[in-house]
Amino acid sequence: MQIISSKKVNLLITLSSAIIILIEFLLYTYIEDKALVLFMSMILLCSFMFVMSRYLIRRFLYSKIRMLYKTIHDTQFIDREFVDKVKTIDILDEAEKEVREWSEGRGSLLMQMKRQEEYRKEFIGNVSHELKTPIFNIQGYILTLLDGGLEDENINRSYLERTEKSINRMIGIVKDLESISKLEYGELKLLPERFNIIETINEVVEMQEMRAQKHNIKIIFPQSHSMPKYVEADKKEIFQALVNLVVNSIKYGKQGGKTHIEVMDMDNKLLIEVRDNGIGIEKDNLPRIFERFYRVDKSRSRNMGGSGLGLAIVKHIIDAHEQSINVSSTYGEGTSFTFTLNKAINTKA
Ligand SMILES: Nc1ncnc2c1ncn2[C@@H]1O[C@H](COP(=O)(O)OP(=O)(O)O)[C@@H](O)[C@H]1O
Ligand SMILES: [Mg+2]
Repeated sequence: MQIISSKKVNLLITLSSAIIILIEFLLYTYIEDKALVLFMSMILLCSFMFVMSRYLIRRFLYSKIRMLYKTIHDTQFIDREFVDKVKTIDILDEAEKEVREWSEGRGSLLMQMKRQEEYRKEFIGNVSHELKTPIFNIQGYILTLLDGGLEDENINRSYLERTEKSINRMIGIVKDLESISKLEYGELKLLPERFNIIETINEVVEMQEMRAQKHNIKIIFPQSHSMPKYVEADKKEIFQALVNLVVNSIKYGKQGGKTHIEVMDMDNKLLIEVRDNGIGIEKDNLPRIFERFYRVDKSRSRNMGGSGLGLAIVKHIIDAHEQSINVSSTYGEGTSFTFTLNKAINTKA
């Protein structure tokens, strides 16, 4: 409903009054029964007063809502465009629409805050749980050393080595936590570049050779000269993803086992596979292994220095590249992880 200006209202009242007087005059002149004339005049006057008071109340309410609307928008009558808009729009509809939008916005913000709060609680719980084990271990080793272990050369060496192992584990957890928090808060800015993926895989293999030997596992990476080698991706992050997958293939491999790495050509992408013939993952656990802190065998993972974050980090990295990652596994036989990368344009073999 539009509210008309006060000039128009005055004109309308004068006109209506004139019409009423005219009707009254006609009634008085043509109807003999004066009681009936009086009754009809009363009805006429009441209707007129009803319509006028309804209009004035509405006008009063509208002016208040308009003031409120202006105050909410905090324009203080300075913004001409806004003042004009307020004059032309249906203020009630507009205010109702804005209140609805505002409350919907608040609702989703509240949900988001709730989710973040739950995430924060769960994250802190998991982090403290992960850090507790190495901290308590270190405390135990130091107490043993203080309790006389220091004097015995065999004990002090072995306990200091264990302390170092626990400290390395803590460093690993803290590094993984740093990566996952960057990735989950979207702070990771990819720096894509054209690089040779074969060279990167070779660097990963070299770096993990010692670990593999310790577990009596062989890393096999056959290379063909005709294979396209150049991809467009963030080299540092892809290196990290490959390290996490290769480390897992060793950690969850069997003594004397093998880790195969393969690169396959797929039109405009390369498919990279890290496959092992290790312990495998049961079907029920497969859908959850990319969740942070999820482990199939907690004690095996902890003994191997795992934080339960490795695959979550890999998934985030591959997702950030808008690529896909898949896992297939047969329990007791082995596991295969594959992910894609975009070939670099102007690929040189
Ligand atoms: N190659 C693999 N073979 C068998 N199980 C695996 C393999 N890779 C990962 N997993 C399972 O998935 C879980 C999550 O892996 P990850 O996120 O790397 O955490 P972490 O290795 O620190 O435990 C592991 O605890 C393990 O149970
Ligand atoms: Mg891992």
